[in-house]
Amino acid sequence: MDIFELCQDFCFDGEFLRYEIVTTGNINTTYKVFMQCGDKEERYLLQKINKNVFSHPEKIMENITSVNAYIDHRHKCEDLFVLHFISNKSGEPYVIDKDGNFWRACKFFDCACFDSPDNLDVIEEAGRAFGQFQYLLNGYDASRLHVTIPNFHDTRKRILSLEKTIKYASGDRKTVAQEEISYILDNKKLAFKLCELLDEGKIPLRVTHNDTKCNNVIFRKDTLKALAVIDLDTIMPGLCAYDFGDGARSICSTTDEDEQDLSLVKFDLERFERFSKGYFKYLKEILTDEEKDTLALSVYIMTLELAARFLQDYLNGDVYFKVRMKNHNLIRARCQIALCKDILTKLDKMNEIVNKHLQ
Ligand SMILES: Nc1ncnc2c1ncn2[C@@H]1O[C@H](COP(=O)(O)OP(=O)(O)O)[C@@H](O)[C@H]1O
Ligand SMILES: [Mg+2]
Repeated sequence: MDIFELCQDFCFDGEFLRYEIVTTGNINTTYKVFMQCGDKEERYLLQKINKNVFSHPEKIMENITSVNAYIDHRHKCEDLFVLHFISNKSGEPYVIDKDGNFWRACKFFDCACFDSPDNLDVIEEAGRAFGQFQYLLNGYDASRLHVTIPNFHDTRKRILSLEKTIKYASGDRKTVAQEEISYILDNKKLAFKLCELLDEGKIPLRVTHNDTKCNNVIFRKDTLKALAVIDLDTIMPGLCAYDFGDGARSICSTTDEDEQDLSLVKFDLERFERFSKGYFKYLKEILTDEEKDTLALSVYIMTLELAARFLQDYLNGDVYFKVRMKNHNLIRARCQIALCKDILTKLDKMNEIVNKHLQ
């Protein structure tokens, strides 16, 4: 795609100078674009939405625009920005290229971004940003949002679907994965807890981000304070437990998601303490008692759910997650199961930590 041509369709200030590729991020294709604006150089982020993952990018952009407008309208929020997308010449927040790809653009911030942080201050700030984002959206009617990936965190459906795959899977992969299959099926009851509470109407649907990894927060370079929550592609109706649980799973694990030395795979309580402290800074004011009771357990549930997804993809012959080595999805499933086992031994302590920061 000709980036210069594409930029002509956006209402950018200034004249196109050059662009660079941004290599962080997992889903979309991202560029940094430089424009000459008088004697100043302006920078923008230009992004092609991955249409293999998101079949209706216009719905994603509608969700994002609506949520941003709500935050702007309802709150004076000085310590967390909203990323506004730049309009095309017809006023829409995207440009569609000749191949039908959706592109969007926003201001590029000279920021820091971390894939797997070990700085505890950064971890607390990541928690603060995601928790504050949810706090700012309190009162937004989540049913107004398009559900862009149906049943994304429906753990019960995910595990039922895994069971179907197991039933029809044949051959070596099923034999090799027997231990992992047993672990997930033996623990599914515990993993259905959030679904049951939701069915019974005991916990509320909120607006959730659904991809609460640290690299979806940008930080000021000088102070390492969180600037903005980014990557709002998966905002949908969901449970507070999804964002908190999945964020803690990814940010408080001591290893990458494909660590093969399982003795290294641990859930770090020091990180969890700081992540929780940040997360509940604002949110504690609005969570219900029933929601609060689900939070520590949600870390286990989100971890088991991901293990089930990796395992299912392994049994299906690696059709969803990109694999970079032999048995990659099985390795990933094993790693998440090892994390599950460690989390279970720490659940009492995790509940204590959560309760302390909810006071
Ligand atoms: N407005 C921005 N300013 C500076 N960097 C950004 C901005 N938005 C995104 N980034 C960087 O680009 C990366 C990818 O963007 P993101 O929207 O998270 O895409 P993906 O869906 O591919 O993860 C981020 O992890 C961050 O490092
Ligand atoms: Mg991202």
